[in-house]
Amino acid sequence: MTPGVRPLIAGNWKMNGTLREAAALAEGVRAGLDAVGGADLLICPPFVHLHVAAASMGWKAVGIGGQDCAAEPNGAHTGDVSAAMLADAGCGYVILGHSERRADRGETDALVRAKAEAAIEAGLIPVVCVGETEAQRDSGEAEAVVAAQMAGSLPEGFAVAKGVVAYEPVWAIGTGRTPTEADIAAMHARMRAEIAARFPGQGETLRLLYGGSVKPSNAAGILALPNVDGALVGGASLKAADFLGIAAAVPA
Ligand code: PGA
Repeated sequence: MTPGVRPLIAGNWKMNGTLREAAALAEGVRAGLDAVGGADLLICPPFVHLHVAAASMGWKAVGIGGQDCAAEPNGAHTGDVSAAMLADAGCGYVILGHSERRADRGETDALVRAKAEAAIEAGLIPVVCVGETEAQRDSGEAEAVVAAQMAGSLPEGFAVAKGVVAYEPVWAIGTGRTPTEADIAAMHARMRAEIAARFPGQGETLRLLYGGSVKPSNAAGILALPNVDGALVGGASLKAADFLGIAAAVPA
């Protein structure tokens, strides 16, 4: 945690579920909200489930976010969804630069930065993901890789927009493996130093999330680490009880 910073527990539902399941999951999260007062909650359903999930949440009990947006504001971009469309659909956030998009869709730091600019322009808070591969960690490059991704992916307006950075080691996503708490703390200290140097007076209190195999059983230890201001949760966010259990692990 960072003193004075309210943690954010974000659920990345990825490409899972039906409309009916999205409604039920959102309803399940809403039903347990009273027990998790210490953090802001955010759910990021697939685009076509955004509306039903937001409606099931009562529209404002929890933040709603997209999992990606286009860099362009509108026009002939078949299959894409603009940041303004997400805002119009009730979103307050958008995940950008997830490693699955960087790896599977070839997204570069420059593209992620352009998308983050578009998100900010539309009034969304970008949640920009960074993280090293296993080979990069093994060769001692992890911190340098993450610092370079932050330098390349965060636009100038990021701090004013209260942007969020999520550290997600690629090898920890969906694998059940996590870095040691010491390794997470070391990475987040480096990230804090980078963002505070880039945005003096603002970067000190921007939220830095950890993501990658977060679950109720490891959340308390991770969320108590310095400079860890919440979690980006994939698999465990698909069960309301697990997602709420992670949120309940936020230190008081
Ligand atoms: P995971 O995914 O929690 O299933 O590891 C995290 C993410 O990709 O955001």
